[in-house]
Amino acid sequence: MTEKPLGFGYQFAAGAIAGVSEILIMYPLDVLKTRIQLQGKAPVPGQDYYTGMLDCFKKIVKNEGPSRLYRGIGAPIMMEAPKRATKFAANDSWGLFYRNLFGVEKQTQPLAVLTGATAGATEAFVVVPFELVKIRLQDRASAGKYTGIADCVVKTVKAEGPLALYNGLESTLWRHILWNAGYFGCIFQVKALMPKVDKSDKGKAMFTDFASGTIGGTVGTILNTPMDVVKSRIQNSPKIAGSKPKYNWAWPGLGTIMKEEGFGALYKGFLPKVLRLGPGGGVLLVVYTGVMDWFRQMGSQPI
Ligand SMILES: *[C@@H]1O[C@H](CO)[C@@H](O)[C@H](O)[C@H]1NC(C)=O
Repeated sequence: MTEKPLGFGYQFAAGAIAGVSEILIMYPLDVLKTRIQLQGKAPVPGQDYYTGMLDCFKKIVKNEGPSRLYRGIGAPIMMEAPKRATKFAANDSWGLFYRNLFGVEKQTQPLAVLTGATAGATEAFVVVPFELVKIRLQDRASAGKYTGIADCVVKTVKAEGPLALYNGLESTLWRHILWNAGYFGCIFQVKALMPKVDKSDKGKAMFTDFASGTIGGTVGTILNTPMDVVKSRIQNSPKIAGSKPKYNWAWPGLGTIMKEEGFGALYKGFLPKVLRLGPGGGVLLVVYTGVMDWFRQMGSQPI
């Protein structure tokens, strides 16, 4: 490895670009999927009937205009770009930290898992306030209470103190630790197992990145879906003074759900999630690697 190291600023920027690209690609797919799921078995007169994803794509673009595929994308981009930027910049920074700490020169399989897990924990601190704001803005009961994201942050901090933004931190930490340990750990493992590709063979290198990122995203989602279910339960448990909430800590919560509802309950909503986050992980890695290579070619100075 003779790659020139690039600084945190570049990693953060490349991560943000990767995050935005992933949403630009996956968001329309989500719209197509929803449309197809919502239509009945038989065509309705006067309404477009879609025979498949591609057909749906063509008909929406032709009859409703391409912008329809991106309606409502503003909020997801504002929420997701900083998270993805943190994910990749934190992974690279913690990797360097651990390599120095343990005095090893190259990344190893156990280090890749540890680095990913720590990056996930870092990401969780960025994610929690965003999640809280999202849930409050989406909640029907608080409609009209807040004018937007900033207003919601200000009002919450004023009324409940800054720590209120960190409600649900513990379960969020586990959710992101598990996903990122799976993601970055798998990417390392899959790349080690695949035949080495020369960087100059752009097509093959991209394919390797997409495949390892998709496998990483899939494994990460398999690992963290139970925590996602627990997290929703915890954040949805009303805090009543003097009584113990049913769901409080993440791991015991996992046990409660399994005991009362069975193992399957831990994987509620798994399929749509993995269909989004699996290939999404592939797109993220392809774009991140591409942008970082581009920065290097531009002869960027460390920032
Ligand atoms: C994560 O960080 C490690 C250590 O710095 C690095 O070797 C690896 O390439 C990074 N992974 C990705 C997907 O960027």
